[in-house]
Amino acid sequence: MIRIGLIGCGNIGHIIAKYQDKFEILALFDIVPEKSRELAEISGGVAYDDFGAFISSEFDIVVEAASIKAVRLFGELVLEHNKDLVIMSVGALSDKAFLALLTETARKNQRKIFIPSGAIMGLDNIKAGQISGIDRLLLRTTKSPESLGLEATERKLLFSGKSNECIKEFPKNVNVSVALGLAAGTDADVELWVDPGVDRNIHEIFIEGKFGDAYIKVRNVPSPDNAATSYLAALSILTLLRNLENPLVIGT
Ligand SMILES: NC(=O)c1ccc[n+]([C@@H]2O[C@H](COP(=O)([O-])OP(=O)(O)OC[C@H]3O[C@@H](n4cnc5c(N)ncnc54)[C@H](O)[C@@H]3O)[C@@H](O)[C@H]2O)c1
Repeated sequence: MIRIGLIGCGNIGHIIAKYQDKFEILALFDIVPEKSRELAEISGGVAYDDFGAFISSEFDIVVEAASIKAVRLFGELVLEHNKDLVIMSVGALSDKAFLALLTETARKNQRKIFIPSGAIMGLDNIKAGQISGIDRLLLRTTKSPESLGLEATERKLLFSGKSNECIKEFPKNVNVSVALGLAAGTDADVELWVDPGVDRNIHEIFIEGKFGDAYIKVRNVPSPDNAATSYLAALSILTLLRNLENPLVIGT
């Protein structure tokens, strides 16, 4: 049974806690102590108010489901305490210097950093781009005003440019663009649209390279407790955790 330490006890944290089967949550930490205490009661784990006590407790892997800031604050410490790290707020890795620091720390401590597929599909074979190169990589994301936390009466382009710029403006909405870039080995172009006519988080991915070309469209149901987060993102972390100890590895 994989033993988890959870950073972030919000929407994704609750979904993880509900589906404990091949893994169990032993320790919880949240910047809002009431949230970790509440989820500790539901999950059976122990809530810690102090990060040092949390990270020194016994478990194998940290699941970060908190924020970009949390990854920046705690990522290195997690790896230095000999725990593997699953990062949901992958936007933190758009900073190349931080990415290099984190991967080097993982290497030094013989630990792994896992990036779940999150709210998109196709991260597996986009990695072929690291070998053959990718000529075009565009993510077009369309969300409702509610998902983006703004008001809009008509479809409007909010951002067009590189993913490392977009994530600065919309840290809770385009984590997947950074994951795409990490997989492909090249920064993704991003278009972010707000559309009052949609009730799903829509991600369209356009890729062209030596392999040919692909178009992937994912129409995600927003999570009931956080419209910015697609339910699929929470499912992707569950499947990652459930398969960590499975000898049969599919689609990496
Ligand atoms: N990779 C993807 O495809 C993808 C998809 C959806 C969401 N996300 C990201 O996953 C993260 C969690 O999503 P969610 O829907 O559960 O969010 P949420 O807002 O419902 O919950 C986040 C929780 O983390 C806590 N938190 C925030 N900053 C913290 C910090 N510095 N230290 C400790 N706790 C902290 C908050 O108090 C809250 O309880 C977000 O950063 C979100 O952007 C990634």
